[in-house]
Amino acid sequence: MSTVAELLQPVEADLDVLLADLRSLIGAGHPILQAAAEHLFAAGGKRLRPGIVLLLSRAMDPAGELGPRHRRLAEITEMIHTASLVHDDVVDGADTRRGVATVHSRFNHRVAVLAGDFLFAQASWHLANLDDLEVVKLLSRVIMDLADGEVKQGLFRYDTGQNFETYLEKSYCKTASLIANSARAAGVLSGRCGSDLDDLYRFGRQLGLAFQVVDDILDFTGSDQQLGKPAASDLASGYLTAPVLYALEERPALAGLIEREFCEAGDLEQALALVRGCEAIPRSRLLAEEFARDAHGAIEWLPASEPRSALRALPEFVLSRLY
Ligand code: IPE
Ligand code: IPE
Ligand code: MG
Ligand code: MG
Repeated sequence: MSTVAELLQPVEADLDVLLADLRSLIGAGHPILQAAAEHLFAAGGKRLRPGIVLLLSRAMDPAGELGPRHRRLAEITEMIHTASLVHDDVVDGADTRRGVATVHSRFNHRVAVLAGDFLFAQASWHLANLDDLEVVKLLSRVIMDLADGEVKQGLFRYDTGQNFETYLEKSYCKTASLIANSARAAGVLSGRCGSDLDDLYRFGRQLGLAFQVVDDILDFTGSDQQLGKPAASDLASGYLTAPVLYALEERPALAGLIEREFCEAGDLEQALALVRGCEAIPRSRLLAEEFARDAHGAIEWLPASEPRSALRALPEFVLSRLY
């Protein structure tokens, strides 16, 4: 089973350049915001989203070349992602991210709100400077979706009446939209059109949904240390993800615990045990597998190359995080 570093190996040097570029791009701002952003970039995420943009860009060029616009798109993608994490951690009250203290716990809430805004603003500026209206539209839509996803998630806290469709819509907005639209944007910058763009979008969308379902499973099965962020926190915050929605079908008693917001001693532990003790986790895994399979099929048409092989292995990697 490959690790993410092995998979991203064809663009490893590009990702090193990306990290250095990101640091110098944010370097022009206010020192405290720079320190806050730097703090997260230095902690080192998986760099999955820019990795996908870079792999796709190289896979679409017959000579395997990478232009400055594709590089910039990858940087913008990681900036938007990191900005969304800084804000998400404030909303979720999470103490750790990427194995280090979150921006709001290392600095304070004010700094975190401003640092997130600062990163979004930087991303928008560099996006506009790509001078491609179609790409601007795709990526600014992502920023709308991210905000929409967080709001949707907040509105449905502890709501046991929500359906699977709501969950998938929320997951699309929060996670899949960025991967889908940045993949499509890479195609636009490569001069692709029509069904190629639709396939790139579908690859990113299905991969993103698989990724989110897997992340939601790991919240029930992983440890803080393994995840680099607090585990078992979604349900405690009232976020009802795939495992919980399946568990609600099998264990009616769960609804009562959620609806009273785990106010009595032992409620949360009991609820976690109910989810972990039924078919909810295996069923969620099947759902993730379905999305991953679809992602794998969406880029069959790319010409054979090392980056293509890495991209085709990505869906399996996303699932392998579960084992
Ligand atoms: C975290 O994404 C946010 C989710 C969509 C679950 P990643 O797990 O890709 O975060 P980093 O960038 O590697 O830290
Ligand atoms: C992560 O959301 C942030 C976005 C995708 C916008 P979550 O709250 O679901 O994920 P973690 O658990 O904090 O990484
Ligand atoms: Mg969160
Ligand atoms: Mg989460």
